[in-house]
Amino acid sequence: MISYAMSGTGSWFAVIGSAILVASFVWIRHRLVDFRIRLIGGKRAYVLASNLYSATSLYIQIGKHQYHSCLAQWCNETLDRTQKHCAELSLTGSKRVIITREPEQIKTILATKFNSFGHGRQWHQLWLPFLGNGIFTTDGPEWHRSRGLIRPMFVKNRLRNLVIFDKCTEKLISKLPPSGTTVEVKSILYRWSLDTITEFLLGKCVDSLDDPDHEVAEAMATAQRIQMYIFVLNPIAPLIPKGNYYRSIKKIEEFIEPIIQRAIELPLEEVEQISKNDAQYSFLHSIARVSKDPKVIRDEIMSVLLAGRDTTAATLSWVLYEMSHRPHTWSQLRSEVLVELGTHGMPTYEALKNMTYLKNVLNETLRLHPAVPINMRQALEDTTIPGEPGEPEIVLLKGDTVTINTIGLHARRDLYPPVSKNFPDPGIFSPERWENWTPTPWTYTPFHGGPRICVGQNFALTEMAFCLVRLAQKFERLEYRGNWHAQTLRADIIGTPALDVPITFYQASNQ
Ligand code: HEM
Repeated sequence: MISYAMSGTGSWFAVIGSAILVASFVWIRHRLVDFRIRLIGGKRAYVLASNLYSATSLYIQIGKHQYHSCLAQWCNETLDRTQKHCAELSLTGSKRVIITREPEQIKTILATKFNSFGHGRQWHQLWLPFLGNGIFTTDGPEWHRSRGLIRPMFVKNRLRNLVIFDKCTEKLISKLPPSGTTVEVKSILYRWSLDTITEFLLGKCVDSLDDPDHEVAEAMATAQRIQMYIFVLNPIAPLIPKGNYYRSIKKIEEFIEPIIQRAIELPLEEVEQISKNDAQYSFLHSIARVSKDPKVIRDEIMSVLLAGRDTTAATLSWVLYEMSHRPHTWSQLRSEVLVELGTHGMPTYEALKNMTYLKNVLNETLRLHPAVPINMRQALEDTTIPGEPGEPEIVLLKGDTVTINTIGLHARRDLYPPVSKNFPDPGIFSPERWENWTPTPWTYTPFHGGPRICVGQNFALTEMAFCLVRLAQKFERLEYRGNWHAQTLRADIIGTPALDVPITFYQASNQ
């Protein structure tokens, strides 16, 4: 009896002893970081959690809010409570995570001290099976080479040909139900953007609008979903079952690799000939002019496929979500479109760029719902970013992670002019505000900035504008058919509406 009690007491001693040991270890690491920061000359960001206990409960909160699709909102409320725009936490005392929504700091990370920050080795490893050594996973000279390979396909002249957008958007419209019937637009827009991007990349589209259960569409969704778990839960990533992940990647490869092979085998003169014909020339041909390495081409195609699908589909879902709630915005857009093109005129690149209200609608949507709501960088060396005005610089040590909180930046009321007749409350969707207002630099960054600014920005804006114009030509009215106020953001890699987006389209009576 006594020995049983003693062994029970012994276990408790062991547990308490271990807890004290771990907590002391973390405490020592915190002090070592303090010491290194003092040596460099600067300070920490505001500390959200200073010990193992508070950091653990913060991580539990993070997991809980991510699970309930409200992490971004919680992040902002947490920063609001501290009245800071930059804060840090660390579970183990070192390898801190710094979160910022401060324009000057974001500018420093993305532009001024571009070489001090990158995606880092861990990011590279986590994404390797899916994206290989493509533009998203690399830094330094490797990234530079990728960017050089990709850029020629996004120059203005290449985007002037809107045949691909026309083909896929016509198909999208043909899939909408008859006037007055409700449709869940998010899923249809995701299929439209997958078809558009595969046509652009490979000259062959997946046809997911015709075949919603297309295996490549499903494989993309599965690979991305599991990739997100691998990314968010990276310390325990080896424990995540990955059978479906590898099978899905293989499915996508089986679709793209034969097309890559055919492009590589084309004689150079033939590729040169095709390059003169915009309708035939794809992203794949553009890369094949520079590299014949199938792995290099595969990695870049996978990266642009990932970047190009969800971003535009999610943004257009938000556009329709917002506009269906504010009917005057749709009427205003439609009036502009009808003046410029009538009900059937084919949108040209120039016509799209001329339509101010259309541009304002997209800008306003990306302000409230940036497609990349939060993003990561890693400090590649010991460095500093600006502190609050009048305060010392904030020190980042090699290996620290920075979370760029774009959605939080865009939500900062102090960065906007006071509310007035011309400038409605910044929390409200109002494309009109852009008629009299231009954001100050680095306060509006949906495509980021600096050398790594979204290379597909113009492609994305043209593609989305094209689709919106076609919809506005055909439909005179939209109605939201759900609980509009219940909608929230699901911020995986791309910020998308967490719930369905049920919309009823009403066709104009003269069509
Ligand atoms: C609403 C639409 C879009 C938004 C808001 C958006 C936003 C962004 C952002 C914030 C980044 C920076 C990521 C980082 O540095 O970590 C980025 C990078 C990139 N985007 Fe986009 N994007 C959009 C659409 C597209 C499209 C349609 C394509 C391709 C067709 C594309 C291709 C890329 C590529 C290749 C990069 C990597 C650039 C680099 O690392 O140098 N994006 N995008």
